[in-house]
Amino acid sequence: MKDIIIDTDPGVDDALAIMLAVKSGNFRIHAITTVAGNSTIDDTTRNARFILKLLGREDIPVYSGAKNPLKRKLDRAVVHGKDGLGGLKPLNGPGLSGDAVERISSIIERNSGKITIVALGPLTNIARMIEDYPQTIPKMKSVVMMGGAIRVPGNKSRVAEFNMYVDPEAADIVFRSPVMKTMLPLDACDVQLSLTDFEKIRDAELRSPILEMVVPYMRNLSKNEGTSKAMMYDPLTVYSLMNPSACRKRRINAVVETRGEFTRGMTVAEQRRWKEENPNVTVVEKVSARRFKADFVRILSKAQP
Ligand code: BDR
Ligand code: CA
Repeated sequence: MKDIIIDTDPGVDDALAIMLAVKSGNFRIHAITTVAGNSTIDDTTRNARFILKLLGREDIPVYSGAKNPLKRKLDRAVVHGKDGLGGLKPLNGPGLSGDAVERISSIIERNSGKITIVALGPLTNIARMIEDYPQTIPKMKSVVMMGGAIRVPGNKSRVAEFNMYVDPEAADIVFRSPVMKTMLPLDACDVQLSLTDFEKIRDAELRSPILEMVVPYMRNLSKNEGTSKAMMYDPLTVYSLMNPSACRKRRINAVVETRGEFTRGMTVAEQRRWKEENPNVTVVEKVSARRFKADFVRILSKAQP
């Protein structure tokens, strides 16, 4: 069992990632903390709670975090639809709760050396924790984050991936911090699911909500990101932690652009082979499509206890 906090901005793929993490049985999820990104903080918090309700796991606490990026206006995503979950309408009201940054720190303090933060949205909460609670930093096990684009184009801009673009100052703080970091960038997101794959999911409680989310999501992706299949950014990130043997990884040195006119949020990696650089992040370069798809469908098909 790995001890984790999921920091997230649901988001269709975030919702699928939460389902995968919960149903896998591989994780002790101490909390879900929310951040503004794909949608507003009210939406992402409500959506996180709604997904836990679908999973019958309302015992997992949800704490709401940053309403805006550290220094910029929120530039929310379009592919997740108006409420953030495609065509799925969350039934519960919004309602913010707690203080994500303080809770992340206190959970880590109580479980020194054990907690991995799985960061599936902009890094605003994590950066604030690093700045506001420096004494907690050495007690974090690691941060595993979805974000960046090393050798491939961006999805939010020519060069930047969405989570890095939305809050580049936060990403910069995280990248410069001494915390152990793993990133799953767009390079590893060539693993996509089709409607036929989702239709194989057998759990009667989840199957139709999943289809309600992913059908509009795929439609929006084909208009905005040039693919008609479902991008699995955040589930792949959770999966890389569940099943490291299905992943190829490499240590690199990367920094985040905060000032560029055209390059806001670009993850700039040292790729010159002859340069000696201190690696500061592990990058997941490749995930086995075959293993991910088989495991994703199998795990989401398990009956709920
Ligand atoms: C990331 O951006 C969001 O839209 C997704 O949820 C994912 O975390 C992909 O660039
Ligand atoms: Ca996300």
